Formats: sequence, structure tokens, C-alpha cells
Amino acid sequence: MKEFQKVREIYTFKKEELVDILASDEMTFYNEILPYAFQIRKKYLGNKVWIRGIIEFSNYCFRNCLYCGLRRENKNLKRYRMSIEEILTCAKKIIDTGIKTIVLQSGDDFFYKKEDICKIINLIKSYDKTVAITLSIGERPTEDYIHFYQAGADRYLLKHETSNPNLYKILHPGQSFEKRKDILLFLKKLGYQVGAGNIVGLPGQTLEDLADDIIFMTELDVDMAGIGPFIPQSNTPLGGYKKGDELLTLKVIALTRILTKNTHLPATTALISQTESKIEVLKKSFLVGADVVMISFTPDEYRENYKIYDNRKKIFLKEIEIATKEVGLEISFDRGDSFKRCIQHQKV
Ligand code: 5AD
Repeated sequence: MKEFQKVREIYTFKKEELVDILASDEMTFYNEILPYAFQIRKKYLGNKVWIRGIIEFSNYCFRNCLYCGLRRENKNLKRYRMSIEEILTCAKKIIDTGIKTIVLQSGDDFFYKKEDICKIINLIKSYDKTVAITLSIGERPTEDYIHFYQAGADRYLLKHETSNPNLYKILHPGQSFEKRKDILLFLKKLGYQVGAGNIVGLPGQTLEDLADDIIFMTELDVDMAGIGPFIPQSNTPLGGYKKGDELLTLKVIALTRILTKNTHLPATTALISQTESKIEVLKKSFLVGADVVMISFTPDEYRENYKIYDNRKKIFLKEIEIATKEVGLEISFDRGDSFKRCIQHQKV
């Protein structure tokens, strides 16, 4: 197609072009866009797929986001909090496996004071100072982010979820897109490698909104971006809505790869959970430009209650190994720091 040819040469898209591609049929996407996204990933990231170990250490959440099963008004969820000792045991398992990135994720749970989080960071780093720590623990007071960074946290994931301020406001009672953006900018300024990301197929979301999401991530020059489909969780106000489309999610990943070039993009658990064949969806994710996969090290008895959405699946290393091989890529356990500001970000 003519427009895509043009686009290919100038390596960029206007918003209307993004919307056109998001609306394009499957054949056009697979023939015109996918090969280009894969070519960009090879050029900027080589053939590696980076593995992260994630610990989902608490499913308590102070927020009330309409789509999320961890929302505070969900009384049908068995809540858990892991102790610092339990978190450390999981962290040691990740380190002993040889994986060099540990992601600590939870709901927005202020039970863990900043001192607790700093203690966890210190203990993990004292066990292995070469490991990278990613925090994904939501919105906290500004000074907390400073303390976490000083304690040795390397990266912070805070998905922007949707860049449509009105939709954001409806979905996140008491929160605003402006504030989320300010926090992301602040985290970046502090020196963190910063991750944003959106949910694809939210009720009320348009293709224009998705184009804005892609532009937002590109302009913010994010180090990482988690892009996954909306999946209804039965005990939430959005439990009756239909799930986000797989192809549309793959398109958003591909376009984000093409525009952001070397940003780390995970093959998200949300996307992989939507299928019988995890390996096939992993392969598709890699082919459209994903380069990261997170493996959960949360003990199963806790993990089964980390019900952000329904039917959340576990991804196994063996599956990632098969998928990477089949698309000609290879697994890496290395830190896989940001390609944007690699040197100044290495805190080791
Ligand atoms: N569907 C898809 N993703 C969801 N998340 C939370 N609830 C859902 C849902 N119902 C995602 C959010 C959050 C991440 C941890 O999980 O993007 O940032």
C-alpha cells in the first residue's frame, strides 16, 4: 500500500496514519507492518529476548480502578501480603536461576512503608549487587521514589493505562492522567529507567486514543512499555464487557516498536493468557517486536489470588525457549538495561 511505502521510508507516522494502520485488515498488517517491526527490532535490539523474574508480593490495593480485580471494593478476593523474608526467598530463587532482573510488583499497598521497600531492595542487592531491580508498586508519595532510587532501585514501571484524560478519570476514580504523566517525568528525571504502557480494548476507547497512546510513549521516550489487551475480571464493574482484540494489541505493539525503536516491550501475560497456545502468541508477540518476557516466581498459592483479570496464565521458561527458537531469536538472562540511556543508568 502506498501510504505504508511512504511511511517505511520516513520511519514515522502521523496520528491519522497510525489510526489507518490500526484499522487495517489482518493481511495488510501481516504483510506490510509486521516485517517492518521485526526488522526494526533486529536492527536496534539484535536477536535477544530478555527474561525478567517477577514477584507479585501483595494483592492488596488502595485504588479502585474499574477494570482491575485487585480494586479495593472487590470483596471476593482472598488477599495476601508476602513477608520480607518470603519476598527475599523468591528473589534468591530468581538470582540462583541466573536471571539478572527482579521485578517487584503489588497493588498500591501502603502497608509496606518506604523503609520496608528500601530494606527489600538493600537485602536483594546485598545478595547480588549485579542484579537490576524494577519496582511496579503504583503511585506513592514523591519522596518514596527518591528513597527507593537511593536504596538501589534501577527501574520503575507505572503504566499510563490510557492517555485519554477523560477515559482515565472514569476508569481510575480519584486519579488523573496529568498526575500519572508528571510522575513518569519525575521518575525519569530521578534517573530511573521508566516503563509506561497501555491497555488495549478498554470499554469506551477509540483507535484515536490508541494512536495517542503510541505517540505518548514515543514522545516520553520510555525505556519500557507494557502493552496488553483489556480482559474483563468478573468481580469488577467492567466484568461484563468484551475483551480487547489480540490483533489490535499486536498492532499497537508493532507500531510502538517502529516508533520507539529500542524500547523494551514485553510479550505481556495478558496477551498470552488469552489463548490455548501460549507458544503461538509468544511467537506472534516476538514477530511484531516484543523483546522481553516476565516469568512469575510468586508462590502458586499466592499467585492464584493475584487476579488482576480472569484466567491469568503462568508462562514457563520452556515455552519461551521454544517460541524464541522458532522465530530465530535467543533467550538472555542478562540485565537488559535500557538501550536509551544504558551507560548512565548502570548503577552497578
Ligand atoms: N485487563 C488487562 N490488564 C489489566 N491490568 C489490570 N487490570 C487489567 C485488566 N482487567 C493491568 C494494568 C496494570 C497491570 C499490572 O495490569 O495495566 O498496570
